[in-house]
Amino acid sequence: MSVITSPTMLANLQAREAAALLPVYRRRPVAFVAGRGSRLVDSEGREYLDFLSGLSVTSLGHAHPAVADAVARQAATLVHTCNLYYTVPQIDLAERLQATLGWPDGKAFFCNSGAEANEAAIKLARRHGKAQDPSKVNVVALEGGFHGRLLGALLLTGYPAKHEPFQPLGEWVTHVPHDDPDAMAAAVDEHTCAVWVEVVQGEGGVRPVPAKVLAAARDACDRVGALLVCDEVQTGVGRLGAWYGWQRTGVVPDVVCLAKALANGLPIGAIVARGPAAEAFAAGDHASTFGGNPVACAAALAVLDTIAQQGLVEAAAARGAHVRAVLDRLIRDHPLAVGARGDGLLQALVLDRPMAGDVVTAALELGLVVNDVAPDAVRLAPALTIGEADVEEMAIMLHRALTQVETQAEKAGHDEQGLRDRGRTA
Ligand SMILES: Cc1ncc(COP(=O)(O)O)c(C=O)c1O
Repeated sequence: MSVITSPTMLANLQAREAAALLPVYRRRPVAFVAGRGSRLVDSEGREYLDFLSGLSVTSLGHAHPAVADAVARQAATLVHTCNLYYTVPQIDLAERLQATLGWPDGKAFFCNSGAEANEAAIKLARRHGKAQDPSKVNVVALEGGFHGRLLGALLLTGYPAKHEPFQPLGEWVTHVPHDDPDAMAAAVDEHTCAVWVEVVQGEGGVRPVPAKVLAAARDACDRVGALLVCDEVQTGVGRLGAWYGWQRTGVVPDVVCLAKALANGLPIGAIVARGPAAEAFAAGDHASTFGGNPVACAAALAVLDTIAQQGLVEAAAARGAHVRAVLDRLIRDHPLAVGARGDGLLQALVLDRPMAGDVVTAALELGLVVNDVAPDAVRLAPALTIGEADVEEMAIMLHRALTQVETQAEKAGHDEQGLRDRGRTA
């Protein structure tokens, strides 16, 4: 990789950002300037092992040649027409989604992000519900679920603290615990137009949703004529060791929401609806200027082709088992590490104290990119192309990071004890 790096670039970017961007991101003090495969390079020329993939986005790794070629070819051919006309990549991609979902009657709508996909699904569920009864507009969602930051998707998101600064958001969503099938069954009534689930709650701390809750959601939807919407924005497109997470559960949703990895980092979102849900929208009910644009769709087609040709769904399952074995080893070796959860290549190491931020800082300094998805949980979401040797390299760096944090914590504990002892003798 030949890129321009400089020891002063980061400080320069930090100063310029502070003056020119709204301060919504808490960034770590690193600027990445290039990437290839699972390696990233920062502004000082340091190399990192990427075990985060953006946030579960660059599933083929950085600068994948199939995606780069597809984007370059499409950009040189046709970037945009608007959705008043037909374009080839959009329709090709809808058919490829039907095939990977195993839904020959599935119909897609394309947008530009995960939140937009959820917003489209909210409107679809309302249309489907209101066709039965005008009051059938409510949604049941899970505590700890994350569905995006636009107003509807934000209300679906099961974190009251995230709602608070933006209230009022409406009263049409009820949240139930992510692990209580009875609460799920009880919350769904004739006013419910949809139930929202993730198979593994990604932003909620990499927390798998029990199969019993998914089954209860399916039963409840069938009972009242509501749609089961599975937000696969983080879990879809191979990450869990299946094309889509729901395929590992035996519970079939009516609608899936996709984004993140679908185009390996180019902005795209999609919903796919099957059965009666696929008939709920009519012309004019929803639209997007950029949704389904040829470049993003060409990138997504390259992603789906590459995953299929290289057997990356199966690779995600195998490599996911390897990552879990590494986490189990770390749990044996480190008092700080007490658990692991997740599936496929979406895993979290659970700590016995809220020190995930310190572990992530130490790992970054050692050259490993992971993130603190919760105060006590470190998320690992590498590319599906990650190699066995990379997994072992991650193991060494995470082991060192944990050791450093444990040593610091011990020292801080001793210092505190020392202060208390001195206080007693003074
Ligand atoms: C499950 C899920 N849904 C929706 C979103 C929102 O996606 P975006 O940030 O592209 O709007 C995310 C993002 O993390 C997500 O994990």
